[in-house]
Amino acid sequence: MSQVDAALPSDPFATAIRAGLAEPPVRVRPLPLPDGNQLWLKRIEDLTHRAWQRKGDMRRLLRREREAFLRLAEAGLPVGRLVEGEGDWLVTRDAGANLRHLLRSPDVRSRERAAAFAAAGEALARLHRAGITHGRPTVRAICWDGAEVRFISLSRWGDRRRRRHFALDVMIFIHSCLCADRTSHDVLGVALTAYLAHAPEGTWRAVRRMAMLMGMIAPAAAALRLARPGSRELNALPLALAYVTERKRRP
Ligand SMILES: Nc1ncnc2c1ncn2[C@@H]1O[C@H](COP(=O)(O)OP(=O)(O)OP(=O)(O)O)[C@@H](O)[C@H]1O
Ligand SMILES: [Mg+2]
Repeated sequence: MSQVDAALPSDPFATAIRAGLAEPPVRVRPLPLPDGNQLWLKRIEDLTHRAWQRKGDMRRLLRREREAFLRLAEAGLPVGRLVEGEGDWLVTRDAGANLRHLLRSPDVRSRERAAAFAAAGEALARLHRAGITHGRPTVRAICWDGAEVRFISLSRWGDRRRRRHFALDVMIFIHSCLCADRTSHDVLGVALTAYLAHAPEGTWRAVRRMAMLMGMIAPAAAALRLARPGSRELNALPLALAYVTERKRRP
């Protein structure tokens, strides 16, 4: 029996989770709480019979993600807080707005945005100093509650200590920023300055090396862009490579 089933019927978390689980499965849904806060339910979507193999993979990824929430929190690292989870689902506490939202919403003050991005850079460096990579630290996988940054979307995390693994996290972050807003150089600079002040020595060199190698496949990416001219991801790739090449270690 899960802890949710065992909880008192009046427990607002358990009530919200039960209600969420009774809804048709969607990937991620917020679960409103009576006090105005919310939790987040993430689960494996209903897949067709043919997708059973993918479902197995998704179940494994969700298990990895639950494990990450527990292990990284135990290590004092800045990740979302797991409330409950088993089998095909997990529930986390609300960690605030994601950085993509902060980047794109016109209502967010620039000082607030800069504070969030500086905290994100420092948080990523904390992970790397602890020998942990996030695996896909996009701007949608980093949340800011007004005081703290926390990573979510942890299924691709790893216990990796090589500079090139850290560099890949950094490249993904840069690319996702420029994907969300191609003019986000200011806040990107703020995040990277904070990151580099705390990151393991030599990481920026590894990022530059990676950008150089990726530059070699840039012609292939350019060809793909002809086929998919509207692709944000492809269009942001040359921007990300140029950003890394042109940036000094400490501006
Ligand atoms: N604990 C949380 N706090 C705040 N927002 C959340 C939380 N969990 C999920 N979200 C919101 O839901 C979005 C999607 O979450 P998540 O990245 O975990 O799912 P996904 O992208 O569908 O799955 P995956 O990254 O594993 O493919 C996030 O970008 C964020 O806006
Ligand atoms: Mg995600």
